[in-house]
Amino acid sequence: MKQDNWIAPSILAADFARLGEEVEAVLTAGADLIHFDVMDNHYVPNLTIGPMVCRALRNYGVEAAIDVHLMVEPVDRLIGDFIEAGASYITFHPEASKHVDRSLEMIRSAGLKAGLVLNPATSIHCLDHVLDKLDMILVMSINPGFGGQTFIDSTHAKIQSIRRLIDASGHSIRLEVDGGVKTDNIGAIGASGADTFVAGSAIYGSANYQETIAAMRRALEVG
Ligand code: DX5
Ligand code: ZN
Repeated sequence: MKQDNWIAPSILAADFARLGEEVEAVLTAGADLIHFDVMDNHYVPNLTIGPMVCRALRNYGVEAAIDVHLMVEPVDRLIGDFIEAGASYITFHPEASKHVDRSLEMIRSAGLKAGLVLNPATSIHCLDHVLDKLDMILVMSINPGFGGQTFIDSTHAKIQSIRRLIDASGHSIRLEVDGGVKTDNIGAIGASGADTFVAGSAIYGSANYQETIAAMRRALEVG
């Protein structure tokens, strides 16, 4: 059973020189949570922002959930730092942690929500033995590292399989999709079973954040 649809603007596409205002603007425009992409120039070929920026957003007054997507290797040290920095969700790529179960436990034992991220070529079998430790599964519909890429269509089949897995498990796990999500494909992505939608360039690249988020919600209702 799908949960309510959440829209998660990715600040990777925001104007970093005005980050506090940019985060406030999408929240006022109707966003549900803030997607925070952490890249280390090692696990992925790009370098972005770290825990100090997360802490700065909290100090600025951001109260909404911050959804930290770790594209770093190794992950455990940064999990601790992001717990301190006020993250709400922390998701990481299983390939980047030597001890996936332990990393999930670190996040959850601090009272945060934990999730695993599956790259386009990552099998869903990595979820088999940790489903009871997950609050979120993030399906990459692009190869991680950059915004503005095109949605990979084979992701639909994967979302459908994971939706069946979640429903059969009886656990409450959000199913998030990241990469190339736009107003014209979000309906189909929701119909496949996703309930949480990351959108960077589609929202921050648009002239009116509120209209874009509203258009996304309308498309999700139609399917
Ligand atoms: C890429 C990031 C995404 C990125 C998506 O590795 O994980 O969150 O911001 O950007 P768009 O929505 O532009 O594809
Ligand atoms: Zn992301």
